[in-house]
Amino acid sequence: MVRTPRFIQLQPVDDARQMPALWSGLQAPVARVSPKYFYDALGSRLFEAITELDEYYPTRTEAAIFDAHSADMAARLRAHVGAAHDLIDLGAGSCAKAAKLFPLFAPRRYVAVDISVDFLKHSLECLQRAHPDMDMLGVGLDFSAALALPAALYEGPALVFYPGSSIGNFAPDEALRLLREAHTAARGGALLIGVDLVKDKAVLDAAYDDALGVTAAFNLNVLRHLNRIAGTDFRLADWRHVAFFDPERSRIEMHLEARQSLTVQWPGGERRFAAGERILTEHSWKWTRARFDALLREAGFGDVACWTDARDGFAVFLACA
Ligand code: AVI
Repeated sequence: MVRTPRFIQLQPVDDARQMPALWSGLQAPVARVSPKYFYDALGSRLFEAITELDEYYPTRTEAAIFDAHSADMAARLRAHVGAAHDLIDLGAGSCAKAAKLFPLFAPRRYVAVDISVDFLKHSLECLQRAHPDMDMLGVGLDFSAALALPAALYEGPALVFYPGSSIGNFAPDEALRLLREAHTAARGGALLIGVDLVKDKAVLDAAYDDALGVTAAFNLNVLRHLNRIAGTDFRLADWRHVAFFDPERSRIEMHLEARQSLTVQWPGGERRFAAGERILTEHSWKWTRARFDALLREAGFGDVACWTDARDGFAVFLACA
């Protein structure tokens, strides 16, 4: 039998329904735009470019940890769940990181989750050709709001896979909520998650404000995206990229700062910005190994294993549900 992947979109992807929240973010005393608006077609390519920058260490550091320790991780998972498990890939995109785990982890079913199934179609169809016996499912779900996967979609136990340190884009209370939902979704399986760690401020500042200006372009592109989907009239030349690590809050802050006083208009509204006023576009929280271990246990996980690079700059945790 030739298998084909199945696809299901759990929520409609409807930009129009999101406009009121977007406009109220722009009107807030400290204006803000959700980081999800970074990722239009150009923004996704700019993010790919960021991952290749000398200054942006997380992607290659995490890949090196997986290269060195995947066999150990797979053995621990097998000891916990036995042979059969489903692999749930959160924010799967190209599915490339999960596909690298297949030879060692050998999941019986692969469930790729991303905000829109359209992002998954091509990659999942290619992957199915390479793994014709594996059951594959693409799920469209904005799990940043709630990770709620219908019971009938998979059997469990599951390995919930969340690489890339994207958990850092959630404030600690939201991260705890997502980890609790991941614990439920694992159905007695485990969570495999990449986490960026606190380190020297100069290293962190450079990772989010690179010399080539790729991260600046990624940040400014959000304004282009909003002009297209929300009818705003941002002029990109009026704004500059600001990014820095705040050691007290243990987070990177990314902002767009008005170069002069100006007014931005959109259908039914406007906002005046003074020179130097900022729009918050992203937080990227950095964890210590001990604090993230404690967060996993608070979310219900036990038997937590952790692998880091030689500099303790990045960590991969395997936590049993
Ligand atoms: C997707 N996320 C983990 C990236 C990060 O490092 O917080 C997004 C990013 N923003 C600027 N550079 C990369």
